Amino acid sequence: MKIFLDTANLDEIREIYDWGILDGVTTNPSLIAKNGGDFIQTVYDIAELVQGPVSAEVIAQDTDGMVREGRLLARVHEHIVVKVPLTTQGLGAVRQLADDGIKTNVTLCFQPVQALLAAKAGATYISPFVGRVDDIAWGGDELIEQICSIYGNYMELDTQVLAASIRHPQHVVQAALAGADVATIPYGVMKKLLDHPLTDIGNEKFLKDWSTVPDTDIEGQVTRWLESR
Ligand code: G3P
Repeated sequence: MKIFLDTANLDEIREIYDWGILDGVTTNPSLIAKNGGDFIQTVYDIAELVQGPVSAEVIAQDTDGMVREGRLLARVHEHIVVKVPLTTQGLGAVRQLADDGIKTNVTLCFQPVQALLAAKAGATYISPFVGRVDDIAWGGDELIEQICSIYGNYMELDTQVLAASIRHPQHVVQAALAGADVATIPYGVMKKLLDHPLTDIGNEKFLKDWSTVPDTDIEGQVTRWLESR
């Protein structure tokens, strides 16, 4: 499963990029507004840093406007993926952008049939909103499972399932178990993915025990051993 960061904050992206596991970034108008700064420069800088897919969302609500904005956004950087809302107008825009060879991320998906239509329109990614579905007392995990099953039934559908609205580590587990192609994860959740008290306790114990051996310098030991052969 690919891991995207769901943020418009470059400092957060730089930090997670250094982990060596980051495949891409998703933004949305709320994240861009929260981050402040220039929208286009921000998505360009993100794309230059990650050298992977970076979703940037259109604001127009009519098909022609979405297509115009999408074509312009795609010119900002080769890694830009045009994010389009899952409306009837959005579907038409996805079809035209796909025909132009422009990648799209169809967002605000809350039920499997919406995902089927987005795939038929030629979406590169579909973004089911796991957390927001849980918020209204249906299962975000079921939503991803059903979309993955439907796409799996039809080989001609090559849209990738991008689990979005992830609120906690268990959502990442659910996305991976369901077979999602991508999970886009907020910075705070990403940090929690690694945290485990037993990892910290175990590491401290290993170091404490190692400090009792006569020679603790591994580099020196290996160098001497290599030279003696
Ligand atoms: O990618 C969409 C995601 O950012 C929405 O998350 O937590 O606002 O539902 P949330």
